[in-house]
Amino acid sequence: MKKVLVSGIQSSGRIHIGNYFGAMRQNIVLSQSDEFDAHIFIADYHSMTSLTDAEARRKSSFDLACAYLACGLDSSSVTFFRQSDVPSHTELAWILNTVTPMPMLELAHSFKDKQARGLEANVGLFTYPVLMAADILMYNASVVPVGKDQIQHIEMTREIAGKFNRAYNTEAFTVPQEYVMTDVAIVPGTDGQKMSKSYGNVIPLFGTDEEIKRAVIGVVTDSSRPEDKKSPDSNNIYRIHKLFLNEEEDKALRARYEEGGLSYKEAKEALLASILTFIAPMREKYEYYQSNPAEVEAILEEGGKKARAKADEMMKRIRQVVGL
Ligand code: TRP
Repeated sequence: MKKVLVSGIQSSGRIHIGNYFGAMRQNIVLSQSDEFDAHIFIADYHSMTSLTDAEARRKSSFDLACAYLACGLDSSSVTFFRQSDVPSHTELAWILNTVTPMPMLELAHSFKDKQARGLEANVGLFTYPVLMAADILMYNASVVPVGKDQIQHIEMTREIAGKFNRAYNTEAFTVPQEYVMTDVAIVPGTDGQKMSKSYGNVIPLFGTDEEIKRAVIGVVTDSSRPEDKKSPDSNNIYRIHKLFLNEEEDKALRARYEEGGLSYKEAKEALLASILTFIAPMREKYEYYQSNPAEVEAILEEGGKKARAKADEMMKRIRQVVGL
């Protein structure tokens, strides 16, 4: 039997190279393997915890779908859908809320970070991990490929599944035993911190040449001179650049940093050239999907139908278990 894989990605802003190297690429690679029955969805309900602009949400959901398709997701072998097309995710989240200990959620980084930044956290953000548990348990996933920043959410999912099973004396949820934690490097942003929309340090994946160029020019550098020898591993330009290179190219680039004689202007030009070459074929497909929205919509609807069929089955069972 194939292992069920579930992965969501939030649609709250423009897709950047951090999203691509940090999540999308692995999801696509894993979803192509015969080992997995993959479910990949656009987490538009989750995006509501931080975005309150309907048009922006619609657009970023659509853009995200185009991006996934452009980056090689094969919708014939993957259940690819919009979370909100399967409304029972929220029903299951409610049910799971009732067995989730509040002190556990108070420890969630997503919530604590927001509070620490002095921002008002809404209840949706507080229960974000419960909705995520619903996403995962709905399909009895055993594999959730996530980056390190999501590990806590996965542990909470495990905890919630166990709580539910014990509370209702059932084995309705598979407490997932195994997760693939793909060891993705945290993708650095233009300022060296993790690339994230909220830090304003992103390089857009499908921006115009001009936008990408501007982001690359903005990569923060130190004051070393062109002739100075530079340590690649502590250099922001290099750390971004290496994502785009194969082993051989990487070796050659490292040598240029280490030997000295590479100006930051040249280093940035080289980075820009690598990005543009790398994204050219994806960009072409992205443009195609952008100009064929009906095709994208049909793909998502088809995926939604498949996901709903599975979710309905699970919800029938769960409703019975809890007495609804
Ligand atoms: N929280 C995830 C993120 O921000 C997105 C997500 C929502 C998710 N539901 C999920 C990931 C279920 C994996 C499985 O990246």
